[in-house]
Amino acid sequence: MIRTIGVVNGGGDAPGLNAVIRAVVKSAIGRFGWQVTGIRNGFDGLIWPEGCIPLSWDSVSGILPRGGTILGTTNRGDPFAYQRVENGKVTTRDFSALCLENARQLGLDAFVVIGGDGTLRIARDFWRRGLNLVGVPKTIDNDLSATEATFGFDSALQVATEALDRLHSTAESHHRVMLLEVMGREAGWIALHAGIAGGADVILIPEIPFRFEAVCDAVRAREAKGKTFSLIVVAEGVQLPEKGPTGQPIPKAGPGGVATVIAGVLGDMLQKEVRVTVLGHVQRGGSPTPFDRILATRFGVHATELIERRAFGRMVCLKAGRIESVPLEEAVRADKRVDPKGEYVHAARATGITFGDAG
Ligand code: F6P
Repeated sequence: MIRTIGVVNGGGDAPGLNAVIRAVVKSAIGRFGWQVTGIRNGFDGLIWPEGCIPLSWDSVSGILPRGGTILGTTNRGDPFAYQRVENGKVTTRDFSALCLENARQLGLDAFVVIGGDGTLRIARDFWRRGLNLVGVPKTIDNDLSATEATFGFDSALQVATEALDRLHSTAESHHRVMLLEVMGREAGWIALHAGIAGGADVILIPEIPFRFEAVCDAVRAREAKGKTFSLIVVAEGVQLPEKGPTGQPIPKAGPGGVATVIAGVLGDMLQKEVRVTVLGHVQRGGSPTPFDRILATRFGVHATELIERRAFGRMVCLKAGRIESVPLEEAVRADKRVDPKGEYVHAARATGITFGDAG
């Protein structure tokens, strides 16, 4: 019998987390008469449970439009291999048994675990160890294959699109090439969608290897048509070519620095003014869009229904517009990447966007 459930979120925050927590709490208390306990700062809150908080209808009042998470979060701290610095040395410890014992001591009969692939893998491992739980997919990167959409993505997309709209006018005024680096880890979803929505001229994503020459050709082709500025969206996970056009080695760069390296090469090749904007965590902060609030609410409600049916070890998901669920084992098996031959890329190309490849 379920009396009390725990809610835990892990990994980077995403707009809509509070909307899920609110939906879980309201549905759990209002429909099923359960109590709800909030676990603070990801699974750390099960290792050190002193900070756990009871969540009431009142404690989730007003949080629907709020970014971040009232529970706090961390994207470090896998309880199965927890790394800490002790006496100046990095140690790795398995706290999973302690977490299970603390869950029992707290009287938690089941959990809603909200997270991206990393957090959901930890959830899967706890499920294998006997913890009753269901998962809710969260990430601005939209890279979970088992769901058509994760909440947070639409909000990040809105920020990135607005940034492109703003860069448009200043790029045009100064006849510049502007690069906008967006998040997404190894997936190009934010870059692709923002590039289409914001009318970019070039989109560089991890899924499509690019050549500097092809990017320059696109900029020059626009200039030949009288367009003296260009907008380039760069996904933070894009793969840099090893060598530049004259055979020069390209410095290695990762998230936060990759657009700057690309800009340096393009500036030399084009002999034009090139500027870089790295959007960073602005994409994760702030209020969720209505789409994300609604998706998060539907996910949260369905998560409590799975618990009520004792359908543990599953993750809620969006399939053909409907809220369904899949086994967690399946949900964490594969990441979702942009299909270079897919319809989104096709639509982008058909409207003149270049990906810096031969296509
Ligand atoms: O997975 C979400 C995400 O925002 C990625 O897009 C980004 O690469 C990463 O998290 C940033 O993580 P952190 O907050 O640790 O800098």
